[in-house]
Amino acid sequence: MASRGLPRALRCARVAAPRSVLSSALPRPALAKAAAAAVPRMAINQQPIRGLKSITFADSTETVYEREDWPREKLQEFFKNDTLALIGYGSQGHGQGLNLRDQGLNVIVGVRKDGASWKEAVQDGWVPGKNLFDVDTAVEKGTVVMNLLSDAAQSETWPALKPKITKGKTLYFSHGFSPVFKDLTKVDVPEDVDVILVAPKGSGRTVRTLFREGRGINSSIAVFQDVTGQAKEKAIAMGVAVGSGYLYETTFQKEVYSDLYGERGCLMGGIHGMFLAQYEVLRERGHSPSEAFNETVEEATQSLYPLIGGNGMDWMYAACSTTARRGAIDWSSRFRDNLKPLFNELYDRVQDGTETQRSLDYNSQKDYREKYEKEMQEIRDLEIWRAGKAVRSLRPENQK
Ligand SMILES: NC(=O)c1ccc[n+]([C@@H]2O[C@H](COP(=O)([O-])OP(=O)(O)OC[C@H]3O[C@@H](n4cnc5c(N)ncnc54)[C@H](OP(=O)(O)O)[C@@H]3O)[C@@H](O)[C@H]2O)c1
Repeated sequence: MASRGLPRALRCARVAAPRSVLSSALPRPALAKAAAAAVPRMAINQQPIRGLKSITFADSTETVYEREDWPREKLQEFFKNDTLALIGYGSQGHGQGLNLRDQGLNVIVGVRKDGASWKEAVQDGWVPGKNLFDVDTAVEKGTVVMNLLSDAAQSETWPALKPKITKGKTLYFSHGFSPVFKDLTKVDVPEDVDVILVAPKGSGRTVRTLFREGRGINSSIAVFQDVTGQAKEKAIAMGVAVGSGYLYETTFQKEVYSDLYGERGCLMGGIHGMFLAQYEVLRERGHSPSEAFNETVEEATQSLYPLIGGNGMDWMYAACSTTARRGAIDWSSRFRDNLKPLFNELYDRVQDGTETQRSLDYNSQKDYREKYEKEMQEIRDLEIWRAGKAVRSLRPENQK
């Protein structure tokens, strides 16, 4: 059997991956529980209220706005007098810009002439002089200025951009970073414009892919300043226009705090640190690179995390052996108790601006791209990720 050489929990979870197979592999009580958990949570307690939904998440009721209420014709009508000037063409600029264009809206792109983004925009079909301009020109032409420059560049370019964001325009961000930490970023928004936020919960590439698949990414929306009385409606409309499926209301401050915290924690930094710690101990205790990698990363990403994503933590536990389950439940509280002080320290550093200052200082250096590339190379060269490359090459889909 192909799975014979695999670790026990991996074997169990591999078998568990397709839902039909999983069902037959589970004991009845676990199956019933897992099946209950499998009911999409969004379907529970939904009460449509004219264009929005009131949904109970755990014990708290929140308002969620959805794409269904904003068909393309309504978006086109809503923005019929607007020029959406999208500044910056990184990951978000690319995804949001192409989606806006596909929605049939009047969108233009503004980037540094002949920079990497300019070339990418031309490749994506934006035409210089027609809907592709330098940053200043695009901001002058726009009625909705979508600031999708890197956060450090937003700060750097603000003195030049601010005078062009005149009364009646709308200023749009995809991160609360610049206005919330204005003492550090110096991005003090003009007093006579609406300031709104749509922050997709994922990379701009995913914003584009999900839109093309006819789905939509989850996004946060918020209003920082409402001078017209229409800021919230604009944020919802923009959220749908850039390709969101569901829109969750928040504040600029909560968005930036949770975002900076999450990406440094479980989403990226924390998970990488945990992978490294586990792998290093296995290697120091005499395990081979392939065993250490399989037991740390491959099983997680290929087998167990998708189960959590699909139907929750209890579903993943239920899909594994009682031995794995007993140990995981016991150790989760040890990890939580030990890690919580670190997470509190991280939140404090986000809240007091330390993380913002670090990001501004580093990312505004002229050679920041080269420096990141050096760090990426260092990561690539780590034994764990070199072992990962070899393990991935053995996946059936990667074999010729
Ligand atoms: N990426 C994500 O997953 C994600 C998710 C949600 C929200 N956001 C937010 O979305 C916004 C955009 O992020 P992003 O990741 O799409 O882009 P990014 O990679 O951070 O920024 C890239 C853009 O900034 C431009 N830029 C950098 N320095 C510049 C300067 N000094 N002058 C003019 N332009 C400059 C680049 O142009 P050149 O090519 O010419 O250098 C490029 O177009 C940020 O506020 C970010 O926090 C990002």
